[in-house]
Amino acid sequence: MTNTTTKHRVLSGIRATGRLHLGNYLGAVKGMLELQANPDYETLYMVADAHAVTTPYEVESLRKNRREVVVDYLACGLDPEKSIIFQQAMVPAHFELEFYFSSVTTIAKMQHLPTFKDKVKQYPEHATMALLNYPVLMAADILVYKADSVPVGIDQEPHIEVAREIARRMNQGYGTDFPEPQRFATAGGYVPSLAGEGKMSKSVDGSYINLTDDLAQIKKVLGGAPTDSGKGEMIPAQGGVANLLTFVELFQGKDRRAEYEQMYLSSGLKYGYLKSELADSIFAVLKPIQEKRKDLESRPEYVEEVIQTGAAKARAIADQTVAEVKAKMGLA
Ligand code: TRP
Repeated sequence: MTNTTTKHRVLSGIRATGRLHLGNYLGAVKGMLELQANPDYETLYMVADAHAVTTPYEVESLRKNRREVVVDYLACGLDPEKSIIFQQAMVPAHFELEFYFSSVTTIAKMQHLPTFKDKVKQYPEHATMALLNYPVLMAADILVYKADSVPVGIDQEPHIEVAREIARRMNQGYGTDFPEPQRFATAGGYVPSLAGEGKMSKSVDGSYINLTDDLAQIKKVLGGAPTDSGKGEMIPAQGGVANLLTFVELFQGKDRRAEYEQMYLSSGLKYGYLKSELADSIFAVLKPIQEKRKDLESRPEYVEEVIQTGAAKARAIADQTVAEVKAKMGLA
């Protein structure tokens, strides 16, 4: 047995705004799987369902999505024997710690985060306290387990920085022993959009492939990805073609990408061929996930048991941290 006190603890989560897509899989879930398989890490994987209420949402969709993400996690290979898999809202300690953490966090700092500004631009009528507190809750998610490693996409780095700052302030002010968490980068940390610019996102049509998409749907989305004449003196560094080449590298390897680049610089690159080959490679990754999902859907009582057991395990750790913090802050 490994000595548990020397183990790194990992916490990660995905917002329950819908089913998982390829961006979630490459940017977050693959890193989660890698750490789950490493005996030096103790892994906790959360469905960030409460974070979904920081932007406008539909009650029935959230009720469904918070379960679907658990099923997606299991289908991707997260293993309840190896990881604690749970839904955030089932562990109230997160929200209590969020409040204590908000006492060492300035409004100005939260207002200046790019993620906050983006969401306010997107939903000007919904600049709520919950949205402002988003990073504080995320810090609580991580630190309530004293996790030191967080496998998430690069866009989450500012939030991890907030968590580090909160940890420092709590440790200095109250003598707690929170670690300063670090982002755990994975190969697919940044997954580009298939619609041209930016990253793969649920909110941009044509930009994403769902984990449940079949080959025809994958071909359809790739078919719509913008390209150019297929020939030039320089490989485009951004935009549709650059993004397609990134996908080739992610699913078919660096060598295949280099071959396509060579074609682009010489005889010319046929996108119809590239897209069809890429679609097959993507589907080859999704197929076993979809088969596992089908099996899980036939066993709802198993999924329910995973949810209940995960929450109980998470609560046992989280409640202890909150008790410590209360005592140090003079609230117990
Ligand atoms: N903010 C993360 C995202 O949008 C989701 C999240 C919530 C999270 N709490 C977390 C990620 C804690 C890692 C750790 O992807």
